[in-house]
Amino acid sequence: MALISLSRGLLLISTFLSLLQYAAAVGTPFGRATGTTGGGSASPVTPTSLAQLQSYLSDSTPRVIVLDRVWDFTNNEGTTTGKACKPWTCSPNPQLAIDANSWCENAEGLSATTTVTYSTAGTNPLKVASNKTLLGKGNNAGIRGKGLKINNASNIIIQNIKITDINAQFVWGGDALQIDGGSKIWIDHNYFQNIGRQMVVTGYGAVYDTTISNNVFNGDTTYSPYCNGQSYWAALLTGNGDQITFALNYLYHTSGRGPHVGGTSGYFQNIHLYNNYFVSLDGHALDPEVGSKILAEGNYFNTVKQPVLDGSGQAYIPTTSAQASACQSALGRSCVTNTLLSSGALTSKSQSDTGTLNGFTDSISKGASIMAASQVGSYVQAHAGVGIVN
Ligand SMILES: *[C@@H]1O[C@H](CO)[C@@H](O)[C@H](O)[C@H]1NC(C)=O
Ligand SMILES: *[C@@H]1O[C@H](CO)[C@@H](O)[C@H](O)[C@H]1NC(C)=O
Repeated sequence: MALISLSRGLLLISTFLSLLQYAAAVGTPFGRATGTTGGGSASPVTPTSLAQLQSYLSDSTPRVIVLDRVWDFTNNEGTTTGKACKPWTCSPNPQLAIDANSWCENAEGLSATTTVTYSTAGTNPLKVASNKTLLGKGNNAGIRGKGLKINNASNIIIQNIKITDINAQFVWGGDALQIDGGSKIWIDHNYFQNIGRQMVVTGYGAVYDTTISNNVFNGDTTYSPYCNGQSYWAALLTGNGDQITFALNYLYHTSGRGPHVGGTSGYFQNIHLYNNYFVSLDGHALDPEVGSKILAEGNYFNTVKQPVLDGSGQAYIPTTSAQASACQSALGRSCVTNTLLSSGALTSKSQSDTGTLNGFTDSISKGASIMAASQVGSYVQAHAGVGIVN
């Protein structure tokens, strides 16, 4: 009897404690986002309308905002009809491009020869202000038809949510998560799919002290630039001074920008990219453009057509023990080698450019805890995405 009531008592206490704590972000931010607290210990709020969600995210009160369902914005703001062009002529189902800011003419040298109608909500992201935690409950909470935008804000955690179905047929139909200037941001255990433009994009404001971890980038889509059923637009990191840890993510069936880093001369980005699992990419993964430094460690490339493009930025992607040891002088440790299976070749530059390492001499990069690439496939498949942490 005594034992039974003792264990019942303990059960009650632990249930009570978990009720008290269930809404705080789960786990501890690591890498560049170390120390991020989001809404901290603010009492959790669960929005009951789209308008309330919008206001909780954008007001100036520190908040822990719990999503208990998928909020669908698709039909909430009507539709827009506008000019568009056809940058790709493949079949079936090429993406079309909305002529946003005359992009068709100016960037593509095309004329906007067609007209399309799309959901207006997709082009107006929800603003996320400073000192917020946005936390999904279970494996099916998030937002649909609209993305999030962080603009010059800091101390934000976004965890365990799905962002999906934003005008997937159209380039410039909307991004899932845009960060234009910010610091102390932890994007963890989320799921992205069917987004017209970027799943994640930074720039051109600098994004400091940010970690993008344990997310699923699912490229499966009907409409794509190459008519291959794969989204081209995974992650684009272009802020002027980005300092980002990109780790433990699961990218599959994407065909480009996994991630694309840099591209504006005079800007720079340092991206520590480790323990990511890349599977079945019918295109490229890393795309280092001018200004970028990408240190890639312990990643596993499984059936990736082009693991890295031969761009004008810097990337160091060691695969041999000699290349790993070459990290010693800059990092005070060896790097962890990357593994390629049934994948295209790395560029010779990406295996020799140890000048990349001078972007990673800070204590966080030096002290990162990185598993062997051989463990990454099973770990990431079991731990990335929604429904794992909350
Ligand atoms: C966020 O919280 C910090 C610490 O409490 C505070 O100093 C800062 O002003 C807050 N930021 C905003 C925009 O409210
Ligand atoms: C963001 O902050 C920078 C630097 O303070 C400023 O130049 C820029 O205009 C801000 N952007 C917006 C959209 O507020």
